[in-house]
Amino acid sequence: MQPLRIAVAGLGTVGAGVVKLLHDQADILTARAGRPLKVVAVGARSKKKKRKIPLGRARWESDVLNLATAADVDVVVEVIGGSEGAASDLVHAALSAGKHVVTANKALLAHHGADLARRAERAGVALAFEAAVAGGIPVLKALREGLAGNRFSRVYGILNGTCNYILSEMRATGRAFGDVLAEAQAHGYAEADPSFDIDGVDAAHKLAVLAGVAFNCVVNFKAVHVEGIRHVSAADIAFAGELGFRIKLLALASLGPNGLEQRVHPCLVPIDTPIAHVDGVFNAVVSEGDFVGRNVFEGRGAGAGPTASAVVADLVDIAAGRIAPPFGVPANALVKLPAAPMRDHVGRYYIRLHVQDRPGVIADLTAILRDEKISIESMLQHGRAKGDEGVPVVLVSHEAREASMSHALSRIGRLRAVIESPRMIRIEAL
Ligand code: NAP
Ligand code: HSE
Repeated sequence: MQPLRIAVAGLGTVGAGVVKLLHDQADILTARAGRPLKVVAVGARSKKKKRKIPLGRARWESDVLNLATAADVDVVVEVIGGSEGAASDLVHAALSAGKHVVTANKALLAHHGADLARRAERAGVALAFEAAVAGGIPVLKALREGLAGNRFSRVYGILNGTCNYILSEMRATGRAFGDVLAEAQAHGYAEADPSFDIDGVDAAHKLAVLAGVAFNCVVNFKAVHVEGIRHVSAADIAFAGELGFRIKLLALASLGPNGLEQRVHPCLVPIDTPIAHVDGVFNAVVSEGDFVGRNVFEGRGAGAGPTASAVVADLVDIAAGRIAPPFGVPANALVKLPAAPMRDHVGRYYIRLHVQDRPGVIADLTAILRDEKISIESMLQHGRAKGDEGVPVVLVSHEAREASMSHALSRIGRLRAVIESPRMIRIEAL
């Protein structure tokens, strides 16, 4: 049996996990693929780094670009990361040389997904990236294959393990943001630049790729509205709990009359929805299809084992000759969907203000909301301010248009009685 000859470029959290899984599970992988999966070459930045991984007789390639053209390589696994530079050069070169490519690199796919799919198709090779979205959850395969009979109206979920870990730990233990982030980095969950995680960029990369597969459209990362979790405070987490919500960083893509809405931002989700209880490094994806209805997928979204599990599943498909169009349809059939403007988004809002505690303040706030035709569902204020320090006031709105809400918040922020910039978190109807 001719083995599938694999080159692994990048031996960090994911690359090391892939090499280990291929080694430890060799017997079942051979049985499932119909032939052995063999690592013939590896490369990373530093040869000197101590790596406790079973590399066997795989040769070291000091310039990973050479893996793209090596005669003894059938498939290049790119687990270096980054939308440009070494990872991008390697993937382009491998596809040009007619090698299959498996990658976990959502940044690369978010920026160049449709172009890379066209190149793979032209070369007649696979471009597979299950690990790029939701780590160990095989959601791309599920949407593309198991749910191929459906048109989707919406896909959404928790797509960043680092943020979910931070928000869960802050809520459960009251620990500080920075401490929990350091722990997520130590576990290998965070991106090389962790601001990609906490500023929502990583989830936005994944959402753009997920939407590409669900809606068979050209990946359009620039159209994603992105906000991260830096401004979510312990006070917001506590108020959300009091109001019957949890705070999650959600990524949502929905197709409506205005086009495709793609957004990543912290959300208040009702405590009685399944996604409210997805904690720690776990991710979840919910799809809404016209014939099947709602499907919920949950699993570990980051870390060596779960990510390697997804990479290796792609390798098994390639070894067995199962090569699917990367975004579900041939590259020239991918549609360009118009981007629905965020200002037209309609939803409920949580607003936290820090205001002077004196007569007339609430009347001034509500007058602005009235002018913008925003109706209040509930309001919370606890205690009484001592001196000038002010008190927190939380408002929950009925459904309002995003443009009206942002206009109202900028006016509210200019009131003399408002001590800090207003904090707004969207409430999601799930
Ligand atoms: P990582 O731990 O930082 O590892 C990156 C690897 O790439 C290292 O082995 C590094 O070499 C190597 N590398 C960096 N620049 C290179 C260059 N110019 N030439 C050759 N090798 C280079 O990253 P990771 O967490 O494994 O992530 C890898 C990819 O998987 C990224 O696209 C990431 O977004 C994606 N991903 C990660 C996870 C996760 O949980 N970590 C989950 C899903 C997807 P040295 O070891 O010598 O420094
Ligand atoms: N940094 C990413 C996360 C890794 O925390 O979810 C998985 O893609």
